[in-house]
Amino acid sequence: MKLGILISGRGSNMLAIAEAVENGTIPNAEIAVVISDKPSAHGLLKAQEKGIETLAIPRNGRTREEHDAEIVSELKKRGVEFVCLAGYMRLLSKDFIRSFPNQIINIHPSLLPAFKGLDAQKQAFDYGVKFTGCTVHFVDEELDHGAIIAQKVVEVKEDDTAETLSHRILEHEHKLYIEAIAKITGNNYEIVGRKVRFF
Ligand code: GAR
Repeated sequence: MKLGILISGRGSNMLAIAEAVENGTIPNAEIAVVISDKPSAHGLLKAQEKGIETLAIPRNGRTREEHDAEIVSELKKRGVEFVCLAGYMRLLSKDFIRSFPNQIINIHPSLLPAFKGLDAQKQAFDYGVKFTGCTVHFVDEELDHGAIIAQKVVEVKEDDTAETLSHRILEHEHKLYIEAIAKITGNNYEIVGRKVRFF
């Protein structure tokens, strides 16, 4: 299965996926391209070091639809069948989502539906929850809303700061995202309403 990965920054989840594809933890998959909306994204360099094709496609004053249309076209040109958002910090247009029906997934650093949107780890920390975590989900037309594929609970410790908590969640994100993608590329699942069932 040909994967396309979208990033906006550091790219640690992208790198974890690339290494899992490389060492066979995610079998039957290849990363066709890594695309960033931010040309300065450090993750682009990390992908290049792995020999993966990269593209920077900045918005450049265009509408979301125009910008997304270019990204979709580059993904389709390369035969991408599945899109993984890995710290991609822009909302996708309806057209983008409809171009890849049930073929876009995202990782979010909270236990959805709690703490949607930006800085989810800090939102959870500031709220005072004792447990938070991370979620892999299908992307639909609402923010951080699509059917849930996998979740991992992470405990908030007494001596945590928002930063130490984010760091611990990130370590779990890498594992959870790889497990989820390996299951999805295995193709033995169905989506029934909001439920993703594996068999
Ligand atoms: C990750 O924590 C990811 O869950 C989060 O951005 C970070 C990207 O890190 N994504 C979101 O908040 C999306 N709403 P990375 O670039 O090192 O993978």
